[in-house]
Amino acid sequence: MNYNSIIEGDCIDVFHDSISEGSVDLIFADPPYNLSGSSLNLKNNTTGGAFYKVNEDWDVFSEADYLTFTDNWINGCKGALKDNGSLYISCTHHNIGEIIVVGKKMGLQLKNILTWYKVNAMPNITKRTYTHSSEFVLWFVKGKKWTFNYDEVKKFNPNKTKSGDNKQMRDFLDFIELPIVQGKERLRGDNGRALHPTQKPEKLLELIILASSNPGDLVLDPFFGTGTTGYVAQKMNRKWIGIEKDKKYIAMAKTRISELV
Ligand SMILES: C[S@@+](CC[C@H](N)C(=O)[O-])C[C@H]1O[C@@H](n2cnc3c(N)ncnc32)[C@H](O)[C@@H]1O
Repeated sequence: MNYNSIIEGDCIDVFHDSISEGSVDLIFADPPYNLSGSSLNLKNNTTGGAFYKVNEDWDVFSEADYLTFTDNWINGCKGALKDNGSLYISCTHHNIGEIIVVGKKMGLQLKNILTWYKVNAMPNITKRTYTHSSEFVLWFVKGKKWTFNYDEVKKFNPNKTKSGDNKQMRDFLDFIELPIVQGKERLRGDNGRALHPTQKPEKLLELIILASSNPGDLVLDPFFGTGTTGYVAQKMNRKWIGIEKDKKYIAMAKTRISELV
């Protein structure tokens, strides 16, 4: 396998054809959430700001097809993981049910559900529900001796005691407050609009990679998008592989990561 590179294609096929069984230490997967196609479409907004409705062809499935898709790609992840590897999957209320059912059915153990509270979440335009301000990251492990770098994660804790020491882990819960990607971190086109609707915060990946891998380990992302996982893994001295089916996102990710090399 070629490390630090992006494989173009459908991740289900790529897992089958190109990724060695039991070779990956950590997978972060940010799959389609199957939430596109609702009537609330802000795609023509010109702000280029943080509020960007996802409405993409790759994110539309029937309920039955979505369950089959989830089954197939999680099966690919399970095969690719080392015996004690970790699989982190981002989701919302739209798809958390399917992912937990499939993960447990495959014998993966769910260790935590991280809540990402989006401090600049999209405003509640319809006023017909509670404001959607969080996403979740499910952490599954395959075996019994999974990696969890407790002391490193503790150092990541932004809260300090009065003497400047890191506080206990109870001050760094399974809850993380981060804005939706904005400012210089957001990849934008010449018109100022975000180039990808679901670019994930680098800080979120920093935490996950720090907690569940060590320098030199192999990190894989089957839904690579703008390459956030590869970008952060490269910075943190991990090997990485990205899988992405859209050529334009592959080009974006390559440009982004090439700035580091
Ligand atoms: C939710 S986005 C991931 C965004 C990424 N985490 C980032 O920070 O930019 C999902 C990505 O997966 C890609 N994709 C969707 N279905 C795929 C599949 N079956 N195989 C590979 N890539 C896929 C889409 O083109 C999209 O870029």
